[in-house]
Amino acid sequence: MRDVAIIGVKTTKFGENWDVSLRDIITEAGVGALEDARVTGEEIDAIIVGNMSGGQFIEQEHIGALIADYAGLAKELHVPATRVEAACASGGLALRQGIHAVASGLEDIVVAAGVEKMTDISSTSASTALAAAADREWEGIMGATFPGLYAMIAKLHMHKYGTTSEQLAQVAVKNHANGAHNPIAQYRNKISVEDVLRSIMVADPLHIFDCSPITDGAAAVILAPADIAHKYTDTPIYVKATSQASDTLALHDRKDITTLAASVEAGKRAFKMAKLTPKDIDLVEVHDCFTIAEICAIEDLGFVKKGEGGKFTEEGNTAIGGKIPVNTSGGLKACGHPVGATGIKQAVEIVEQLRGDAGKRQVDGAEIGMTHNVGGSGATAVVHILSRDR
Ligand SMILES: CC(C)(COP(=O)(O)OP(=O)(O)OC[C@H]1O[C@@H](n2cnc3c(N)ncnc32)[C@H](O)[C@@H]1OP(=O)(O)O)[C@@H](O)C(=O)NCCC(=O)NCCS
Repeated sequence: MRDVAIIGVKTTKFGENWDVSLRDIITEAGVGALEDARVTGEEIDAIIVGNMSGGQFIEQEHIGALIADYAGLAKELHVPATRVEAACASGGLALRQGIHAVASGLEDIVVAAGVEKMTDISSTSASTALAAAADREWEGIMGATFPGLYAMIAKLHMHKYGTTSEQLAQVAVKNHANGAHNPIAQYRNKISVEDVLRSIMVADPLHIFDCSPITDGAAAVILAPADIAHKYTDTPIYVKATSQASDTLALHDRKDITTLAASVEAGKRAFKMAKLTPKDIDLVEVHDCFTIAEICAIEDLGFVKKGEGGKFTEEGNTAIGGKIPVNTSGGLKACGHPVGATGIKQAVEIVEQLRGDAGKRQVDGAEIGMTHNVGGSGATAVVHILSRDR
């Protein structure tokens, strides 16, 4: 297996982008990443794109071919383009598949991208589309939506561990504060704990400010064998680990819904592959689709003991400057969550941090970062560890 490096990155503006279509934003991300890597179209060996539900959101399938065509890479160059899907972890999975392709030696230059265009339909239709990532026959059919499923996780976490609504709110407050410094974020306004607690209740105990929103956006990274990375960039970022794990699709089949076993397992596998522990990680982008999800994630990945995530967050340990900065980008909460793009955007944030290019969000001396991308309520988890040093 060959070592793999990320040599170029780009995330588009996340938000309600009604003036552009899916093909526009994914091309903007791809071209931006290629320019960043100083790679030409002729050099691309393959495109791998994460997209959860083009069919439901914009009535367009065959997204890989669409992208190759619209980017001008199909007609003469015939670049292979593959779409991968793992619900909200589609982006993370695209990155992992791209790493496999380069590490195996089959491809040299791979574009790993993610895209979703979610705001062209009503919020109700978007919720229905998203709910297809849960167990249709047991959860969706009963009317369960993701806010509803994560509300159950939150209720049990509060019951078992004494986690409070204020602690959940603190996740949103911290992520909005980080997002305020991120030009691509959907929400760049700072909020207070009181704002969160006063905001409309979506699914008790989750208020609207506890939820990630519905978002359009795209992101792309360029992968290359580590041995030739310096030909393209002075600041390659190296892939130290890629891992993935599965769990039951439905919540009711799990022993304990306050732990996402797929996150626990993907985290363990990634640490083993990188020969690192949570103490070695300087910052982490976790899958905060709801505030409770960030608390579960920092526990499941081993940054804090089970049950202590709420208190740890409330004490400021996950803020920039804290023990382990979490979601310096603003996370899914403030950046928005275009489901197919999120996993790639997380990697872009870590690359910018490790390059020292994160501006007011910069974590001083960041050398090793981690991403954690979850599909559905935890049936898929994908984890990556990235490093400045090979
Ligand atoms: C929370 C949710 C139900 C809100 O949808 P909605 O009721 O249609 O809300 P609207 O789009 O009408 O927004 C109402 C207002 O709140 C704001 N808003 C909406 N969602 C927000 C959020 N998550 N955070 C902050 N503000 C939000 C909007 O900007 C809007 O403000 P405005 O009136 O000033 O323009 C929806 O965003 C949602 O379903 N989120 C979860 C997505 C999800 O499940 N993802 C997959 C996770 S696994």
